[in-house]
Amino acid sequence: MSDSFTPNLLNSDALTKFAYQTFQQGKQYFGFAHKTLSSRLLNALFDHKREEPNPLNQAMLQTIQSKIDRLLEADWQDAEAGVYPKQALFDNRWDDFFRYYPELWIDLPKIWARATQKRYQDFSAGISTAGYPDYYVQNFHHQTDGYFSDASANMYDLQVEVLFNGTAAPMRRRILAPLKQHLSQMPVAIGTTPQPLKLLDIACGTGNSLKLINQAMPDVALYGIDLSPAYIRKANDNLANNQGPIPAQLIQANGEELPFVNEFFEATTSTFLFHELPADARQNVINEAFRVTKPGGIFVICDSVQKMDAPEFEPLMENFPAMFHEPYYRHYIADDLVARLETAGFKDVATHNHFMSKYWVAIKPVA
Ligand SMILES: C[S@@+](CC[C@H](N)C(=O)[O-])C[C@H]1O[C@@H](n2cnc3c(N)ncnc32)[C@H](O)[C@@H]1O
Repeated sequence: MSDSFTPNLLNSDALTKFAYQTFQQGKQYFGFAHKTLSSRLLNALFDHKREEPNPLNQAMLQTIQSKIDRLLEADWQDAEAGVYPKQALFDNRWDDFFRYYPELWIDLPKIWARATQKRYQDFSAGISTAGYPDYYVQNFHHQTDGYFSDASANMYDLQVEVLFNGTAAPMRRRILAPLKQHLSQMPVAIGTTPQPLKLLDIACGTGNSLKLINQAMPDVALYGIDLSPAYIRKANDNLANNQGPIPAQLIQANGEELPFVNEFFEATTSTFLFHELPADARQNVINEAFRVTKPGGIFVICDSVQKMDAPEFEPLMENFPAMFHEPYYRHYIADDLVARLETAGFKDVATHNHFMSKYWVAIKPVA
C-alpha cells in the first residue's frame, strides 16, 4: 500500500501528542490511585491515621495540575524541536513494572512500621554500612534498606513514578535542552583526533538521567558515579542497550571525591541528589563538579523546587520531609545553590523551574 493511502491522522503530530498526553494521564491516575489505596489500606490495617500536616485544598490541586500540564507541554515542545526523539516520550521499563510492582505492596507494611516507629537507620541483616558517610546511612523516604540493596534499587523507579504521578522523566528531561545547546557549541581541539564529548552524571542512581541524555545525544560518552553498588548494578542493566561511542562507564564513588582527573568532562550533571545531602556535602560535590569540568564546560543540576521560587508549594514542601524521611530537605529548600556554584568558580548561573523541580545551569569560565 502506498503512503498516500495512510490516513493523515496516523502520521500527524496531533495524534502523537494526544497519545503522549494520554500516556501521562494514565501515569497520573495510576500514581493517585496507588497512593489513595495504600493509605486506605494502611489506615484500615493499623487503625492509625497518617495524615499530611498540610492537607491539600482544591486550589492547590488545581495549581499542581496546571503546573503538570505546563511541564508536559514543555516536554512535548522540546521533542518537537528535536532535542530528543518523540519515541523517547513513551519509554517505560514495562518489564520492571510487571516484575516489581507487586513488591511495592508487599514492602508497604515494613515501610509503615519503620515510619511510625521512627526507625530511620534500619537495614536488613547482612547489610554493611561501614565506610559510607554518616549522612548517607539512612532509610531515605523510609525505603527498605535505604540505598543499600538490590531490592531497593529494583523498586526505586516505581516508587518515584508513584510519588510524582509519572512526571519524573519529564522533569529530568528538562536538563537536556541547555545541555545539548551548550555541548553543540563546545570547540573541538584543532589538530587532534576528534574525541567524543564526555559527560559525568553525579549520583546517577539507577541510570535514568544517563538514559535520557543518551536518547538526546547518542554521540556523547557517558560516565556515572553513585555511592550505592546496588544502584550502579541496576544502572548497568538499564543502560545495557545504550547507543554510544563507548558503553556507559559507571563507578561506585562519593560525589565529594570524584575519581577523575581535573578538567576531564565537557559536561557534568546531577539529578535529585542535593536535597539528600547536608550543606557541607552539597558544597563539596559542587567543588568537585567544578574541578572535573573543562573550562568552557557546563554543569546542570535538577532537584526539588525551593521555597523562594514557589511559595504556593510551601505546604507541599512542608509535607515532604514530614511524610517521607528526608533529613536534609528543610535546609536544602532555603539553601542558596547559586552562591555555592559561584563559590566553586562557576559563572553565568541561570535557574528555572518546572513543576516540582528547579534547575541550575552553570558554566566553568575559560581562564
Ligand atoms: C534520590 S536518588 C537520585 C538518583 C538519580 N540521580 C535519579 O535522578 O533518580 C539519590 C542518589 O544519590 C546517591 N548519593 C547520595 N549521596 C551520594 C554521594 N555523596 N555520592 C554519590 N552518590 C550519592 C544515592 O545513592 C542515590 O542513588
